[in-house]
Amino acid sequence: MTDLDSFIARLPKAELHLHIEGSLEPELMFALAKRNGVSIPYTSVEDVRAAYAFSNLQDFLDIYYAGASVLVTEADFHDLAMAYFDRAAADGVIHAEIMFDPQTHTDRGVAFDTVIRGLLSAMAGAETKHGMTCALIMCFLRHLSEQAAFETLAMAEPWLGTIAAVGLDSSEVGHPPSKFARVYAAARAKGLKLVAHAGEEGPPEYVHEALDLLHVDRIDHGNRALEDPVLVERLAREGMTLTVCPLSNLKLCVVGDLADHPIDRMLAQGLKATVNSDDPAYFGGYVADNYRAIAAARGLSQDVLATLARNSFTGSFLPPETIARHLASIDAYLAGS
Ligand code: ADE
Ligand code: ZN
Repeated sequence: MTDLDSFIARLPKAELHLHIEGSLEPELMFALAKRNGVSIPYTSVEDVRAAYAFSNLQDFLDIYYAGASVLVTEADFHDLAMAYFDRAAADGVIHAEIMFDPQTHTDRGVAFDTVIRGLLSAMAGAETKHGMTCALIMCFLRHLSEQAAFETLAMAEPWLGTIAAVGLDSSEVGHPPSKFARVYAAARAKGLKLVAHAGEEGPPEYVHEALDLLHVDRIDHGNRALEDPVLVERLAREGMTLTVCPLSNLKLCVVGDLADHPIDRMLAQGLKATVNSDDPAYFGGYVADNYRAIAAARGLSQDVLATLARNSFTGSFLPPETIARHLASIDAYLAGS
């Protein structure tokens, strides 16, 4: 391990953009397929990994939704999330806000309660085992209808005290934020925080819509906002956090080469960018891998990496006094390293 690798691994950080279904490693996929008698179209772990070559978001989503079919019982969701928390803790993650896609499961007959009970028990486990705090973000699949999103929000009603925010993911182009403006208004009225994927593959207009029509607290990805200087100025002025995912951007061809990744350009333009793993089992790295890869590709200094980690706390849904404590822990870490 180089000095920078160990600096990154021990740097206190939050992860704000992680799809728990995207942390399903091939080994666990096989184990759960066997446990549940579900057939998958792969003969070996190597076979699965070989299938992970994507030319765009949809290529990935097709494989990601198929992989999720092995998740059936509450124990499956618990084991999936616990494996993520163990991995994240090793990467210096002390707070994680994890997304889940209930419709991927309810649409194939798995009860909403089964999914959320498994995730919540793993979150409790992460707190006792690792001292990690966690929050849950319930995502609507944007390729499905507004009506289906409303039905999902209704299913979540008994669990609202355990859900921090709603999010919007899946196939972006052709499914603009405007499609979900009324669902987001309903979620906001219930006191939920709001995030949405925007500007990953979709145009800057989708980022405008996420701000103006959904009233989001955070933008997931946001890369294509850089094409619109007025939007960049607005995002900077409003202190909007962007949950950027470098290895995801590379694997889904949002950038051609990590050497051209805009993360430091975002920071230089006053944007509150953070580093996240998105779907680590599919994109070849957890959060520290993302920090390491982007640091190497863009020659980022320890100071810049610390700024990215600070942004992960200021952009979180933690209470202000907890954020202040975590920022102080970054200062203490820098002073001692
Ligand atoms: N679901 C899981 N990962 C996603 C991503 N990067 N973009 C949109 N939807 C997703
Ligand atoms: Zn994502």
